[in-house]
Amino acid sequence: MTLLLHTETPASEWWREGVIYQIYPRSFASSSGPIGGLPGIISKLGYLRDLGVDALWLSPFYLSPQKDAGYDVANYRQVDPMFGTNDDATRLIAAAHGCGLRIIVDLVPNHTSDQHEWFQAALTNPHAPERELYWFVDETDEPPTDWLSVFGGAAWTRVCERPDAPGSAWEDDRSWYLHLFDSSQPDLNWRNPKVRAEFRDILRYWLDLGVDGFRVDVAHGLVKDPQLPNWQYHYDMVAGSGDAAGSIPPPPQWNRPEVHEIYREWRAVLNEYGTDKALVAEAWVDDLSDLANYVRPDEMYQAFNFDFLSAPYTVDSYRHTIRESLAAMDAVGAPTTWVLSNHDVVRAVSRFGLSKTGKGPNGIRPGDEQPDAVLGFNRALAAHVLQAALPGSCYIYQGEELGLPEHMALPDSVRQDPAFFRTKGAEAGRDGCRVPIPWQADAPGYGFSPSGVSWLPHLDSAHELAADVQDRDPESTLSLFRRLFAQRKRLQMARASLYETDEVAPYLHYVSRLSGRADVHVIITFDTPAPLPDQARIIIQSRNLGENLAQDAARSVPPNAAVWFTTD
Ligand code: BGC
Repeated sequence: MTLLLHTETPASEWWREGVIYQIYPRSFASSSGPIGGLPGIISKLGYLRDLGVDALWLSPFYLSPQKDAGYDVANYRQVDPMFGTNDDATRLIAAAHGCGLRIIVDLVPNHTSDQHEWFQAALTNPHAPERELYWFVDETDEPPTDWLSVFGGAAWTRVCERPDAPGSAWEDDRSWYLHLFDSSQPDLNWRNPKVRAEFRDILRYWLDLGVDGFRVDVAHGLVKDPQLPNWQYHYDMVAGSGDAAGSIPPPPQWNRPEVHEIYREWRAVLNEYGTDKALVAEAWVDDLSDLANYVRPDEMYQAFNFDFLSAPYTVDSYRHTIRESLAAMDAVGAPTTWVLSNHDVVRAVSRFGLSKTGKGPNGIRPGDEQPDAVLGFNRALAAHVLQAALPGSCYIYQGEELGLPEHMALPDSVRQDPAFFRTKGAEAGRDGCRVPIPWQADAPGYGFSPSGVSWLPHLDSAHELAADVQDRDPESTLSLFRRLFAQRKRLQMARASLYETDEVAPYLHYVSRLSGRADVHVIITFDTPAPLPDQARIIIQSRNLGENLAQDAARSVPPNAAVWFTTD
C-alpha cells in the first residue's frame, strides 16, 4: 500500500526549498573578545558555503543589555557594539550574497528590552504617553491576572519593585507591567498604531540594507485579550500548552486571531520588495492547523515545525507527524519546514539519547538523567538524513553539522539563561546548547576567538569534534552533512513528490519521486532493522553502514539509522 503525502512542485522561491543554517552570533566565531560577532561570521562564510546551505538565519545582534541573550532589544536599528557595527552588518550581507548565501535576521516584536527608549520614558511617570505602548495596569493589590511568565514566576512586575527603582523617579509607583518572559522584557501593546507603524519601519530598514527575510520571534504572542482574563496554565517554550485535545480554555495572551492582521500588514511590506524575501514564524501553537494559519497566502511564508522537533523518536510518532505536517502546510500552499534543534532546546544528539525522547527537558545537568551518547548520536544523524530528504525547507542549528552534543557539565556559576534564575535553578535552562563552536582542535580555546577566551566553556569533546579535524576526515559528521546537502540539491528532494510505503512496518520507507530522475527511496529505522532490497544502490547513509550494507548478506539497515538509495 502506497500513500501520496505530497505532490511535486515546480522550482520556485529559494525559501521553499533551502537549507537554512541558524547562527547564534555570540557563540559562532569571535574576531576579538569572548563573545562572537558579525566579523567572526564573515570569516566563516567559506565554511558555510562549502557546507552547502542556502541561507543563514542570525539570532539577534541588536543593541541589547543581553538579559535574554539579545532577545531583549533596546534599539532595533543598531548593531550592539558587542557584535560589531552597522557597517559590519552591511559587509556581512554583501559578503554572504557574494558566497551565494541569503541572510535572514531575527525580529523580536512581542517585547522590547526595558532599556528601550519607549520603556524608559514609560517608567518616568504614570502619565507618560509611552505607557500606552506597553501593558501597564494601575495599582491593584494583586497582579492584574494570574498569568505566568514562560521563564517562570509571575508575568507582572510592579514598577516600584524593579531593581532600578530605589532612588529613581518611579520608586513609589505601584502600577504593574506585563512581561510574558523576563521582567526586563516588557510586552508591547500591538493594539497601538504607533507600535505597528514602528515595526513596519523596522522591516523596511533591514530590507533596505539588503536582508533576505525575517524570523519572527514569538509570533503567536503579540496580541492579548484586552479584558485581561485570568488563565492559570503554563505555556511552555516551543511546546505551547501541550493541549492538542483542547481541554483547557484558549489562552488570552497566545495565538489570538487578531495577530494575523499584523502579518498581513507585514506581508504587504515585504511584497514591495518582491517575492523572494522570507518571513518565518516562530509560533508555539498546539495544533498544526493553527500553525498553518500563520502561513496562509497573504501572511508569512513558512513556520518552524516544532511538532517535528518535539516528536518522540518512534515510528508511529514520525509517521504521524510527517503526514500531518505535510497535509497542514499543503492545505495553505506553504512549504513544510523540518527542524530538530535550535538555541532554545537540548541539542538533538543529546535529546535523542534520553529514555524519553521528544522535546526534552529545559537543559541537562550532571545530576539529571544523562543521555546514551551513542544512541542519541545515531538517532540524530538518522533524523537529519530523513529531514534533508523531505519536501520543503530544512533548518539546522550551528554545530549540528559537527554532531555537537549538549554541554551537560556547565557549572551553575556560568549560567546566563533567565529561565535558570526565574525558576530558582529548578530548570538548568538553555546555556548548554549555546556553548561556543570548536573550530580548531589545537588552537587556544579551540580557535573560537583570537585569545582563546569564550563566554561559556567549551564542550569536553571539543578537541575531537573540532571543525578542522572533521574537515580532513571523509568519514566525519561534517563530511556527511556536506554530502547530504549536495545530494539533496542535486536530486531536488525539496520539491519532489513524497510517497509513504507500508503503513504497518516498524520502520518508515518513503519514495521521493520527481519527473526526470529515478525514484529515491528513504528508509529510517527505529528499534529494529529494516530490510534493504538486493538491488539498492546507496546514495547516502546516516552512519558508517558501509560494511553492513556491502558485506552483510541480509542487506539490512540497522536500528536507529537512515539511508537514501535507488533501485535503478
Ligand atoms: C526565542 C528565545 C527567547 C524568547 C523571548 C523565543 O522564542 O527563541 O530564545 O528567549 O523568544 O524572546
